[in-house]
Amino acid sequence: MNSSDKKRVKLHDRTFEVMIPGSEIDKAISAVAERINRDYRDQETPLFLGVLNGSFMFMSELMKKIDFNCELSFVKLASYSGTNSTGEVQELIGLKNNIEGRNVIIVEDIVDTGESIEHLIRSLVGHRPKSIEVVTLFFKPGSYSKEFPIKYSAMSIGNEFIVGFGLDYDQLGRNLKDIYVVVDD
Ligand code: IMP
Ligand code: MG
Repeated sequence: MNSSDKKRVKLHDRTFEVMIPGSEIDKAISAVAERINRDYRDQETPLFLGVLNGSFMFMSELMKKIDFNCELSFVKLASYSGTNSTGEVQELIGLKNNIEGRNVIIVEDIVDTGESIEHLIRSLVGHRPKSIEVVTLFFKPGSYSKEFPIKYSAMSIGNEFIVGFGLDYDQLGRNLKDIYVVVDD
């Protein structure tokens, strides 16, 4: 398909075109779900913890493909300027579950530099879970700079900016069922 034939959308001031069709995303989610099914089938009931807003669509598709008993919940990270020199501080909001001694699987839309996931893991560790792993729909290995291994990644991409399937450009585009990449740079 010629790039000019690809479906395009305009979000705010930028134009995006389809990069990954929904059918491919579905296959990648099935593959990562299969790995999780294998690894957790005989474990104590894990808790899938989605990070809002971006993970809502991935969480819903992933859950339909998980074949063991599990719980799910969502948290949100609120960032604000800290009063100390480290700058940005992330606050965890909405963790109502007691995760002490439990297997926790964090569900993310995308792991880019890893800043947000590192903050989240650090605050969850304080609640003394038995284990923490991350499942992310998209992973940018060229940008990730943290130690924590991202065990489950449905798809790896380059450093391009994408939208759709929960991911936004300034809050728009989350509802798109395909993944789009910006074209008007
Ligand atoms: P981090 O750099 O891993 O901390 O990622 C921070 C956040 O940036 C992610 O949770 C997303 O909300 C957002 N983000 C990173 N890359 C993209 C992208 O390509 N499209 C949309 N949002 C992104
Ligand atoms: Mg996110």
